[in-house]
Amino acid sequence: MTQHLAAPLSGTSDDDAPDHRPGWWRDAVIYQVYPRSFADGNGDGMGDLDGVRRRLPYLRDLGVDAVWLSPFYASPQADAGYDVADYRAIDPMFGTLLDADALIHDAHALGLRVIVDLVPNHSSSEHDWFRRALREGPDSPLRDRYHFRPGKGADGELPPNDWESVFGGPAWTRTTDPDGTPGDWYLHLFAPEQPDFNWDHPAVADEFRSILRFWLDMGVDGFRVDVAHGLVKAPGLPDVGAADRLRLLGTADGGTPFFDQDGVHEIYRQWRRILDEYPGERIAVAEAWTPTVERTAHYVRPDELHQAFNFQYLSTSWEGAALREVIDLSLAAMRPVGAPATWVLSNHDVTRHATRFAGPSGAPTPTQTRDPGDRTVGLRRARAATLLMLALPGSAYVYQGEELGLPDVTDLPDEARQDPSYFRADGQDGFRDGCRVPIPWTREGGSYGFGTGGSWLPQPPTWGGLSVEAQTGDPDSTLELYRSALAIRKAHPGLGAGTAVEWRDAPAGVLSFTRPGFACTVNTTGTPVRLPAPGRFLLASRPAGTEPAPGEEFELPADTTVWWSL
Ligand code: GLC
Repeated sequence: MTQHLAAPLSGTSDDDAPDHRPGWWRDAVIYQVYPRSFADGNGDGMGDLDGVRRRLPYLRDLGVDAVWLSPFYASPQADAGYDVADYRAIDPMFGTLLDADALIHDAHALGLRVIVDLVPNHSSSEHDWFRRALREGPDSPLRDRYHFRPGKGADGELPPNDWESVFGGPAWTRTTDPDGTPGDWYLHLFAPEQPDFNWDHPAVADEFRSILRFWLDMGVDGFRVDVAHGLVKAPGLPDVGAADRLRLLGTADGGTPFFDQDGVHEIYRQWRRILDEYPGERIAVAEAWTPTVERTAHYVRPDELHQAFNFQYLSTSWEGAALREVIDLSLAAMRPVGAPATWVLSNHDVTRHATRFAGPSGAPTPTQTRDPGDRTVGLRRARAATLLMLALPGSAYVYQGEELGLPDVTDLPDEARQDPSYFRADGQDGFRDGCRVPIPWTREGGSYGFGTGGSWLPQPPTWGGLSVEAQTGDPDSTLELYRSALAIRKAHPGLGAGTAVEWRDAPAGVLSFTRPGFACTVNTTGTPVRLPAPGRFLLASRPAGTEPAPGEEFELPADTTVWWSL
C-alpha cells in the first residue's frame, strides 16, 4: 500500500476560473497565511503582501479554495498586527494598498478566494480615537468609544473590576491625565496596547460597517472575525468573582460578563445584511471561543455569520473515542442552524498539531506546549489527523506550514520571542512564537527561500530538509500527501459538504465511517489492527504494505488513516 492513489480520479479541473457554485464556503478548504512568516518579497526578514502574491500559484497547486490572511493593517505590532491603528491602511512593513489590490486580483485570477482578518473587539492604543481620548482628558467624548472607568479605592488606585487579561495580569490599565495626575482606567481584555471598543456606542458600530464595506469594495470574499465572542460586555461590567476569573470560555448559559454575551448576535445580523448586499457570496467566519459547540452554533444561524471555527475539535486529543464524540457533537450542533461544520487542527495561536500530538499515547494534548515530544510519532499522527479532518463533512482550515509537517519550534531562545503573552506571566498563551517561525521554501539559502534576507524569528537548521523544494515530487512527503488529499477531496462526490457520517463497528481506538461512495478508517492507537478493507484503496497517511482487495483483511498501521472508495 503506497501513500498515493495509482491513477488520479477523473473530474479534477485545472481550469482556474473562480468557482461559482452556490455555497462555495460549505466545503471550502481555507489556507491561513500568517503574512509575517509566509514569504518575504523585499528581503527585510519580514514577510509581506508582495511575497504572498508571488507564492499564490503554490497555493493554487496545493489545491485550496481560499486564503485567509492574518492582519496586515497599519499597526505598532504590539500583538503581531492584532492591534490595528488604521483599519483602512496597510502597514508599510507589509506593503501598500496597491499591493493588497494586486494580491486580491491575482488570487481571483487563479481561482482563489481571499478572506481578510477583521479585529473589532479592540483597536491599537495608537488608533486615532484612543490617542485623542487620552490627549483630550477625562471629558473627551472619544472616551465613550472605549471603556474608561474611575478606579476603586480611596484614590482610584484599584482597577474598576476583577477582570483579567487573556494574556495575564489585570484587564485594566490606569491612564495619566494631561495635567500629569493619575486618571481613569481603561479596559483591555488582551494587551494594554489593545483597548477594547465600547460596542454600545453607535460610532463604533457605524465605523465597522464602513470598514466592512471598504474591504468588500476592494473585492475581498470574506472576513475572519477576531474575538467575535468578545464585543459586547455585560451592563455595568460586573465582577466575575475570584473562582470564575479564569473562566475565559464563558459558561454554557452565557454567564461570563466579557465573553459570549447574547448581545453580540445583533451585530452579526447587521453585518450579514451588508455581506448579502454584495455579489458572489461574501462570507464571515467567527473566531468565537465558547464553552460548547451548541453556543458556537449561535454565531452561524442563517441570518448571522457563515462559519465559526471549531475549537472543540482543535482541542481534542488524538484518541478515537474523544474524536468520535466531538465529531458527532459538532455535526449535531450545526444541523439545526444549517451551517457547515468546520474543522481545524492548527493556527497562529496554538502549538502546531505535529507537536501537540507528539506526546505519549492517550496523553491529553494541551493547545500550548513547549515539549517537543517524539517528532516521528507526532508527524505520523499529524498526517493521520489531517486525512481524518479532510474526510469530514464541511469546511476545513489549513495553517501555513502544516502541509510541510512542520513541528512547533519549541526551543526558540527567550531573547528571540516576540509574543506579548509570553511577557505577561500566567497568560492563557505564551508560547505562540513557536508556530509563527517563517516557513521554508528551499533547501538552502539564508532563510530557506523565505526571503533573500534573514528571518524575524530564527529558523531551525533542519528547516531546509522540510522545505517545499525538498518535499516536492517525493511521493512519501507530507506536502505530496496534502496535494493528493486535496485533489481527491475535490474530485470525489462523497467528500466535502455534508451533514453526517455513518459510523461502522470498529475496535477500541479505531474510527471507521462512511460517506456516500467513500469510507475512512483511522487507527489512533499505537498498535496495528486488522480490519476488512471497506472498499478500493485511495490514500493512506502512512505508506505501508500492499493494497488489499475490497473485503480482504488488511493491517491498518498504528496512528494511520486510510481513505477508500466504495
Ligand atoms: C485572537 C487572535 C490572536 C490575538 C487575539 C487578540 O485570538 O487570533 O492572535 O492575540 O485575538 O486580538
